[in-house]
Amino acid sequence: MLVGISGTPGTGKTSVSYLLKKNGYKIVDLNKTAIKKGFITGIDKKRNSKIIDIDRLDTYIKEKYADITDIIFVEGHIAHLLQNIDKIIILRCHPDELKKRLIQKKWRKEKIMENIEAEILDIILCETTDIHPEENIFEIDTTQKPIETVAGSIIEIIKNEFKPMKKYNIGKIDWSEEILKKFQ
Ligand SMILES: Nc1ncnc2c1ncn2[C@@H]1O[C@H](COP(=O)(O)OP(=O)(O)OP(=O)(O)O)[C@@H](O)[C@H]1O
Ligand SMILES: [Mg+2]
Repeated sequence: MLVGISGTPGTGKTSVSYLLKKNGYKIVDLNKTAIKKGFITGIDKKRNSKIIDIDRLDTYIKEKYADITDIIFVEGHIAHLLQNIDKIIILRCHPDELKKRLIQKKWRKEKIMENIEAEILDIILCETTDIHPEENIFEIDTTQKPIETVAGSIIEIIKNEFKPMKKYNIGKIDWSEEILKKFQ
């Protein structure tokens, strides 16, 4: 079973994946895989980021792990764009905390603002619901959760066999008041 871990950059996908790996889970880093397998089609100069051929990556992942019934996590901010994954976990983070995390990553101000905006506008969630049925999508608010707790939430979802859980239902997280603050 392929489980995507997606979320706006800085929400903690790689950090939590590292812990899941320590707990014995298999992790696939989608960005590294795309580079290694030659699925990069160009560079987005404005964003200073690589453009990935999602369809080829999707087919590669599907074929490579077709016979594996164990859980395999595929992590990266494009994970939710893969058609062939079975479940998607989206990590979320309050904009104030996200800003701190992206500063920690030493990102440029412009890129930090772009990602904060994407998080406030639920971009990843919207892209996910365009592709995947709602019952396959889970959201975790990581804002005040240490990485260990976030990993615990993911393991909880697995142990519950991906059945719906109120606290991880989509649509509960809403950072839109952050925009309104500007007008107060
Ligand atoms: N739950 C958390 N609580 C506090 N800090 C965290 C948490 N998760 C991650 N961080 C910190 O936030 C920063 C970003 O984390 P990380 O690199 O794992 O994000 P990412 O989602 O993988 O980002 P990208 O999409 O750019 O790869 C790191 O400095 C990390 O230590
Ligand atoms: Mg990462």
